Amino acid sequence: MTNDTGHSEAEHDAVTLDNLLRESREFPPSERFASQANATPDLYRVADRDRLAFWADQADRLRWETRWDEVLDWSDAPFARWFVGGRLNVAVNCVDRHVEAGHGDRVAIHWEGEPGDTRTITYADLRAEVSRAANALTELGLRAGDRVAVYLPMIPEAVVALLACARLGLTHSVVFGGFSAEALRARIQDAEAKLVITSDGQYRRGKALPLKSNVDLALRDAPSVRHVLVVNRTGADVEWTADRDLWWHETVDRQSPEHTPEDFDSEHPLFILYTSGTTGKPKGILHTSGGYLTQAAYTHHAVFDLKPETDVYWCAADIGWVTGHSYIVYGPLANGATSVMYEGTPNTPHEGRWWEIVQRYRVSILYTAPTTIRMFMKWGSDIPANYDLSSLRLLGSVGEPINPEAWIWYRQHIGGGATPVVDTWWQTETGAIMISPLPGVTATKPGSAMRTLPGISAEIVDETGEPVGPGGGGYLVLTEPWPAMLRGIWGDDERFRDTYWSRFADRGYYFAGDGAKYDEDGALWLLGRVDDVMNVSGHRISTTEVESALVSHAAVAEAAVVGASDPATGQGIVAFVILRGDATEHAGGDELVAELRQHVATVIGPIAKPRQIMVVPELPKTRSGKIMRRLLRDVAEKRELGDVTTLQDSSVMELISSGLGKPA
Ligand code: WTA
Repeated sequence: MTNDTGHSEAEHDAVTLDNLLRESREFPPSERFASQANATPDLYRVADRDRLAFWADQADRLRWETRWDEVLDWSDAPFARWFVGGRLNVAVNCVDRHVEAGHGDRVAIHWEGEPGDTRTITYADLRAEVSRAANALTELGLRAGDRVAVYLPMIPEAVVALLACARLGLTHSVVFGGFSAEALRARIQDAEAKLVITSDGQYRRGKALPLKSNVDLALRDAPSVRHVLVVNRTGADVEWTADRDLWWHETVDRQSPEHTPEDFDSEHPLFILYTSGTTGKPKGILHTSGGYLTQAAYTHHAVFDLKPETDVYWCAADIGWVTGHSYIVYGPLANGATSVMYEGTPNTPHEGRWWEIVQRYRVSILYTAPTTIRMFMKWGSDIPANYDLSSLRLLGSVGEPINPEAWIWYRQHIGGGATPVVDTWWQTETGAIMISPLPGVTATKPGSAMRTLPGISAEIVDETGEPVGPGGGGYLVLTEPWPAMLRGIWGDDERFRDTYWSRFADRGYYFAGDGAKYDEDGALWLLGRVDDVMNVSGHRISTTEVESALVSHAAVAEAAVVGASDPATGQGIVAFVILRGDATEHAGGDELVAELRQHVATVIGPIAKPRQIMVVPELPKTRSGKIMRRLLRDVAEKRELGDVTTLQDSSVMELISSGLGKPA
């Protein structure tokens, strides 16, 4: 068997290792893929010639009830307005128009629950379900502009809930089901949500876990909420607050499957999604309708090469993250895709679960995160080898830098040594993919996101904002507005300007917070965050957030948190804590550390649990009192210590690294 580079498989493996070290291996697109690809080299030229005309063409992917007058209004920068004057309904674009075009029988979602139950939902079914849900939300008194919090596992109702909100012009705020009651409460309070949609429980690792109980806790102090709509997923007992709580099956199922949609302004708020910033308080990233949907649809078409008639597409993210919003819900549905949606964990009940799903539904496009790929690598390539994965024709990666080794493994063992692999860089703030190879067009290098998509303008710049040339490294910035860009931080315009637009204010660049470099050929490599935001298994968590959680525990006087590189999760959270005087005496060591880890899980969510907590007598600080995280990272990664001359008391580091710090 040969792959599209013309090497035999044995040669391929040998070449792989060799080239990993030099990072110079290139995979040009195969002729077979290129001849059928949605993307063409011409796209770059067209977009370069007239960027706004290019985006106007992309907006024609959508159905507009009123056409826009102006593609972009940037006169109030950094607050953008795209497709000014245009009106549309996002849900109609994702559902109704496909039914009206005669595709009502096409499967929209092949859903598989963790326990093995399945549901097949066609576009006609989806239209009926979304209409019922929209009628129910109207009956509950919700009106366009109101906010709805969605706290659900990966079940079809999550998709229906989002689309019902979109249909009514309600702004959804999805909170990941792994977040704690406290995290949920903060997000509900910030957005002043009137409704929470949740489920009794969720299946994780073969067990039914409670979910609604977190909502009950969160709502002890969230006066904006009038109702809680509860999907019956696990059948678990739940506490019930009369007049507030309603079952989904009692409220939605009895509604009419007909609903007449209204249209909304292109800039109508579609959703808020909270993400970690460099301070403790999460930022409510605001996205609007027309521009967001345009870029979600365009990127999904060009980067995933979707052929709606024949492809089966699976984005294995959670709806709680932006990847789920743009590439489980809005992008694929706008394009009339048939998707797979899976509720559970990859090793329940066995480590071949994903590959069984690929085989069963003949999945042709798979999109996942490097951390998951590394986990599969650890489990061994003999597991996917047991399944027929020949339906796969394109693989995607997102969320963190993908190490070349994982890229190669993914292509070789999942993609049969032949599929294109697209490493896609973007953020909650960008709304959709920004940097990625185009399959069938771009020759790829393992580990590189290669170049900006047609229509997108990025640069790598130095401290002063000067672009670096080939071979240079620096900060990643976006130099021109783009349709799916965030429109602000909910309720905090000043923070929006400060966080993204102040660093290179004189040039008007958007500061992404990522470091990047160009190689000698001009290919772009992402290097990770340059701020105090960690990336753990593709999830953004701020060091400050975890520090605040730790100091909220009675035993902790001070805490410093760093992201240390971790072979499995990309970064791992390592915390250094100083205990309060009275706590030190009966500090039972391991027990206290376990309690602190659990405390962080309770305050933020299990994803924020530190990998390691070290109890230390002092923390290294500069003379101005700033904690020197760089040194702590050196300790956490067991590297030789960096320069300590600006330390207030350099003996501190000796204390910490000599083992007085108690690792656990
Ligand atoms: C990181 C996820 C390298 C980056 C869509 C970014 C990546 C943050 C990549 C956004 C990639 C995402 N290569 N790093 N392909 N994709 N990142 O908001 O640090 O959850 O700033 O959006 O993830 O994370 P977010």
